[in-house]
Amino acid sequence: MVEHSLLRARKYEEEQGERIPCKDRPAFHFTPRVGWTNDPNGFSYFGGRYHLFYQYNPYDVVWDSMHWGHAVSSDLLTWEYLPAALAPDEKYDSFGCFSGSATELTGEKQLLMYTGVRKDEEGREFQVQCIATGDGRDYVKFAGNPVIDSNMLPEGFDAANFRDPKIFKTGDGGYACVVAAKDADGLGVLLMFLSRDGHEWKYRGILDRNSGEFGRMWECPDFFFLDGKAVILVSPQEMAKQEPRFHGGNGTLVRIGSFDENECRFVPETDSLIDHGIDFYAPQTVLSLDGRRIMIAWMQNWETCNDMDHSAHKWFGQMCIPRELSVKEGRLYQRPVKETESLRREKTVYTNVLLEGKGTEEPLELDGINGRCADMEMELRPLENGDECSAFELFFAADKENRTVLRFIPSENTVEIDRTDSGTCKGALQKRSCKVTDRGGRISLRVILDRYSAEVFINDGEKVLTTAVFTDADATAVRFAAKGRMMMDIVKYTLAH
Ligand code: FRU
Repeated sequence: MVEHSLLRARKYEEEQGERIPCKDRPAFHFTPRVGWTNDPNGFSYFGGRYHLFYQYNPYDVVWDSMHWGHAVSSDLLTWEYLPAALAPDEKYDSFGCFSGSATELTGEKQLLMYTGVRKDEEGREFQVQCIATGDGRDYVKFAGNPVIDSNMLPEGFDAANFRDPKIFKTGDGGYACVVAAKDADGLGVLLMFLSRDGHEWKYRGILDRNSGEFGRMWECPDFFFLDGKAVILVSPQEMAKQEPRFHGGNGTLVRIGSFDENECRFVPETDSLIDHGIDFYAPQTVLSLDGRRIMIAWMQNWETCNDMDHSAHKWFGQMCIPRELSVKEGRLYQRPVKETESLRREKTVYTNVLLEGKGTEEPLELDGINGRCADMEMELRPLENGDECSAFELFFAADKENRTVLRFIPSENTVEIDRTDSGTCKGALQKRSCKVTDRGGRISLRVILDRYSAEVFINDGEKVLTTAVFTDADATAVRFAAKGRMMMDIVKYTLAH
């Protein structure tokens, strides 16, 4: 029985994954081998390669019966599928192997830490933290699971909301993990646990908590140090809208501050959304060999995935492009990993393109600027004679009926992504916008397009807007329009493996 569920999943994915033609997947974004994925899990470096595990239902394109899928890569962009790593086959995880993380135990052994979920006869859920060890391909669940039971929770906390351990090594050769929990008021709390050997865990204290300002429960925590600051990433549920700073619903939050080691307490200084687009959730980071803090996330959101047409594909859910993080003046900056440059093929350059018009009636097309897999860097600036531009619009994934729009309104310093006319997507949530730094009407935009997505990095990564795009693959036009007059330089590369 124990082996049975995992072997069944492995057999199924090997047969069915093969049947998905490459052209029906993104060119360089990660998708599950077959079936459904949500959160990235166990994003780590082990045995000379990056490992990406993922919340995985191989059998259907909807959430169910969470397994851990598995893939490895040496460049973070080309992923080789390995057999599924975990299946819900123990009493304590019979309702699912929920999200978690990974680290190296010894040179030969990798340690996975995940949330085991079970339901009792009345349908009540119990969430506990479990471990499995393995060689980078096959993993064995620890006989002493769960290693952190809900009886280790502080008084009044909810045993049904205790999940998503992020494990990391401490300076003294031990291990720590941060786990999301829900206190007696129904608010998210991040708990820290410590261990000498990765197997036996002790409660250390409350690292951070939701004062009520950021939704209710918090999911999928990450905690690390970067550029002299302590950083927390979490995904709050039920966020109240605070536009344009925070969107409503399932959101993401980065808190930048300091860490009081004696008290085991994070002291926040700034709070912001991680990604201002439509589809981004549950980010997780890894430290690369050369010291970069790299983040990946589910390029989807619980708010929108039910509105997507799942039927066209044998996979659902993709990960965003891995992003290098940095912190400057209390702000998180994100850039596509530098490895993205190795995907650059044909280059097309235009400088001093004058965009002028009344709007969208006659958008400009430029030779060589088109396609659905592209890296486009644009510098926009006002004319020197002071002519006003009230809006810049970039249309992509466009044909006669369809287009996804990126809109910059200089007078408001806002950038908006709008996929109202993006083909099969039928959800209510079609637009998202953010405020950007006032640079006197100038802006720099880097747009990474893949077959099913767009990621917009603004002003060198000070803000990012990410959206899934399910427009028909034939819609390849890219067009530009301005209300008023604006100058543009553009460098475009086709991206391919
Ligand atoms: C976040 C999440 C996690 C949980 C997992 C279950 O998207 O709800 O909190 O572990 O998904 O698939």
